[in-house]
Amino acid sequence: MIKNNTIEIVKNHIRIEEIIGDFVSLKKKGNNLWANCPFHNERTPSFSVSPNKGIYKCFGCDAKGDAINFLMELEGMTFVDAIKYIAKRYGVEIEEDNEKVDFNKNEKEFLYIIYDLAKEYFKNNLYNTDEGKQICLKYLENRNIDKKFIDKFDIGFSLNDWEGFYNFAKHKGYSKDKLINTGLIIHKEERNRIYDRFRSRVIFPIHNVYGKVIAFAGRKLSEHIEGPKYINSPESLIFHKSNILYGIYHAKKSLKEENNCFLVEGYTDVISLHSINISNVVASGGTSLTENQIKLISRFTKNVTIIFDGDDAGILASLRSIDIILNQGLNVKIVVLPKGEDPDSFIRSKGSKDFKTYLQDNTKDFITYKANILTQNIKNDPVKRAEAISDIMKSILAIPDRIKRTIFIKECSKILEINEDVLVNEYNQINDNIVSSNFNENNKLRLPNKNLNLKIEDIIKILEKEIVSMLLKYSNQKLSSDLTLKEYILNEIEEIQFFDHNCKIIIEEFRNQNAADINYFLNIENIELKNYVIDLIATKNEMSNNWEDRLGHHITKEENNLENSAYKNILKLKLYTIRKLIIENQEFLKTELKSDELQERLNIHSYLKSKEKDISQKLGIVALDIHKI
Ligand code: GTP
Ligand code: MN
Repeated sequence: MIKNNTIEIVKNHIRIEEIIGDFVSLKKKGNNLWANCPFHNERTPSFSVSPNKGIYKCFGCDAKGDAINFLMELEGMTFVDAIKYIAKRYGVEIEEDNEKVDFNKNEKEFLYIIYDLAKEYFKNNLYNTDEGKQICLKYLENRNIDKKFIDKFDIGFSLNDWEGFYNFAKHKGYSKDKLINTGLIIHKEERNRIYDRFRSRVIFPIHNVYGKVIAFAGRKLSEHIEGPKYINSPESLIFHKSNILYGIYHAKKSLKEENNCFLVEGYTDVISLHSINISNVVASGGTSLTENQIKLISRFTKNVTIIFDGDDAGILASLRSIDIILNQGLNVKIVVLPKGEDPDSFIRSKGSKDFKTYLQDNTKDFITYKANILTQNIKNDPVKRAEAISDIMKSILAIPDRIKRTIFIKECSKILEINEDVLVNEYNQINDNIVSSNFNENNKLRLPNKNLNLKIEDIIKILEKEIVSMLLKYSNQKLSSDLTLKEYILNEIEEIQFFDHNCKIIIEEFRNQNAADINYFLNIENIELKNYVIDLIATKNEMSNNWEDRLGHHITKEENNLENSAYKNILKLKLYTIRKLIIENQEFLKTELKSDELQERLNIHSYLKSKEKDISQKLGIVALDIHKI
């Protein structure tokens, strides 16, 4: 294990622009350096590196982190690999101590090691035991899965043995309790029995983006055996089913090269496509895609082609969930296979050439496909027709790009045989239900998500973020009062309850003096919080954060007058908090109240109103009707 001291020394050598500059060519613009993002395809640079803050962030695909994260993400290094790489680059000598990895401290590292051990164990079962050779290799052979792909995907076999892996791992010196926590071993407490989760199954390891095994899927060897067809590892610190796609590690290079991602359902479908030289493919594992999975794909390409198994029932149900893919700005195409076929069975029965021809001839744009399929189902029923129109318009509304939306509306007007104006009208109506109509120009196609009339809670959260971002960025800067900004802010917000969960945690860490400045958060293990902090401090240009586009005048930003900015934003936060309380109190006043309760509520109202007036005056604004702010 590398000594902690060495890790610190290595970290101190890091110049993020040098580390990242070894992989992409960076150009200076303002305080930051910019490049085309190495994590996704793009023509104009949205990948920024901040030497001052020691972080990178892509405003296109949301990849972010520090220099170490960069190496782990892009090059698939482990933390230790990354440290060694950096040490070598700067000529720092690595000092290791002989202690074993402290597994209690680093549960994740432990899980990686155990899953790697299990992977090797399952592979060994497949190749070097009679059972593996006679049963499982035979099975794979019958399915036409070539040795090359068995190796590539680390396919293995779990013996028909209740304690095969358990005994193996115990011999390696891992304790019972540690093993139970991995999910590879099941512990039935009532009868105090311990046994392997995977028995007598083909094992498909699930790899994360940089090729580490984080879970297993075990398929039974015959349909005649009882029990579910597939068993998966449970969720763990390293495995979140909804964040990963099967095959992503083996696909990522060609996702970029082909600039398209095939999405299939099954593990074996991924392997079959590889066997005919299509490697830009991932599998959802039979569930509908989550937002994080879509983000994962969009790091490599913005084009998705969904290959549907040929069973009608599933498809209509999935159409709706595809809107979230559109919503992430991806282009979606779909192919429906002939009835009863999945990609694997199609390739096996018809061969590679027919499959590729079929893809070519049957790939359709999602929106037009949806319009077509919906019109088929409605015949002459006017109610169903109206539903179909509204359904398709919802999908179009999900597309962030305005030009694309306009094109699709034209296209659908042809398919649905409806005047374009009627569709645009329908579109605007749906849009109105989603966003406020204050800024409508009638009959004009508007950008969704713009002109948003923000809810008061949203404004509060944005102000919270702004204040916490100042706290992070300038914590130890001295103000004229001789306080540091940190002391000033913590004092001022003493009585305010923050809504935003992460903001709350950050403030607590400062209060408890765990955190002295931003470095504390850039070095924590809680990756969610770390990413949250990076989002808060990364700016596109020096003056503008993402949310400001939407907020306009609501926040104050004067970097050369920190004190004034902090003062104003805290006042604004107080103002909106009070306004929120006023609204809540008014809700009570609308209900039937006993006379003493009524009096109480009225008192609260005038108290809050006078507070609102005080703060408004300090801010130099007139206390307007809340809805106009
Ligand atoms: P083969 O029959 O071996 O070709 O697998 P398949 O991938 O074609 O299976 P199927 O089309 O039935 O299911 C598609 C995907 O859904 C599978 O690859 C699994 O990810 C998932 N799945 C299917 N059955 C189960 C199950 O019983 N349990 C779980 N957890 N997942 C399943
Ligand atoms: Mn199949």
